[in-house]
Amino acid sequence: MAYIIDGKKISQEIKDELKVQAEALRSKGMVGALAVIQVGDDPASSVYVRNKKNACAYIGIESLSYELKSSTTQQELLDLIRKLNGDDCVKGILVQLPLPEHIDENAVIQAISPQKDVDGFHPENVGAMVIGQEGFLPCTPAGIIQLLKRSKIEIAGKHCVIIGRSNIVGKPMALLMLREHATVTVTHSKTRNLKEVCKEADILIAALGKPQFITADYVKEGAVVIDVGIHRDAQNKLCGDVKFDEVEPLVSAITPVPGGVGPMTIAMLMHNCVESIAGKE
Ligand code: GUN
Repeated sequence: MAYIIDGKKISQEIKDELKVQAEALRSKGMVGALAVIQVGDDPASSVYVRNKKNACAYIGIESLSYELKSSTTQQELLDLIRKLNGDDCVKGILVQLPLPEHIDENAVIQAISPQKDVDGFHPENVGAMVIGQEGFLPCTPAGIIQLLKRSKIEIAGKHCVIIGRSNIVGKPMALLMLREHATVTVTHSKTRNLKEVCKEADILIAALGKPQFITADYVKEGAVVIDVGIHRDAQNKLCGDVKFDEVEPLVSAITPVPGGVGPMTIAMLMHNCVESIAGKE
C-alpha cells in the first residue's frame, strides 16, 4: 500500500502558516493586494480564479478582481498591467492563462513588473531561478517540492524523471529538483523508449497532460509518483495523468487527483504574495 501524499492537508498547513505571517505583517502596517486578471470566461479558468480569490480571503490578503471581456485588446490588457505596476497598494499581479488567441502571452508576462510577478513567469524571475538567485518561484513546481519535503521524502541523489517540458511545470520542475540535488531527466513527446526511461525513476513527475496515460508499466516498484494532470474521465470524474488504481499498489508514495498537486499551486501563490508584501523579492 502506497503512502497517499495529502496535498489538501499540506496546503492547509501552509495557508495557516501564511495567515499568521500576513497578520504579523499587517500589525506592522505592511499590507497589499493581489490583482487577479481573467480575460474571457473559460469555465476552468473561472474556477481557478475563484479559488485564488478565496485563498486570499482566507489568508487575509485583499484581492482585486479584473474580469475582462474576451474581446479585450492586447493594448487594453497591457495598459491595465502598467497601471497596476505603478499602484503601490498592489503587491501581486496574476494574469490567468491561457489568454485568447489574439493576445501574445509572452508580451503580457513581460509587461508585469518582476517585483509583482507572483506567478514567477517573468524572464527575470525565471533567470534568477536558473542561477539560484532570489526571486518568485513558479507555484506548481515549488508546491511539488513542498509536498515532497513535508512528506519527508528525500530528494538528494534520487533520479527524478519529469514527463513534460512546459514553461509552467516541466522546465522549472527540472531546475528546482536540480537545486535539491536530484539527478534529473526531462522527457517529452519525442522521447524514445519513454516507458524504459520512466521505469528508471525514483521520483516520477507526470505533467504531460494526457488523462491516465501513465500505467503500471511506466513505474518502478517503490517509486514516488507525483501527478500534475487534471482531467475529467468518461464518467465526468476528475482524474490525473496517472492511472491511479493500477499504479498505487506498486509505489511507495503517490499524489491523488484531486487533492494532490492542485491545492499546492494556490498555497504557493499565497506564499509568493506574502513574500511580496514582506518586501522580500
Ligand atoms: N494557468 C494554468 N496554470 C496557471 C498558473 O499557475 N498561473 C496562471 N496565471 N495561469 C495558469
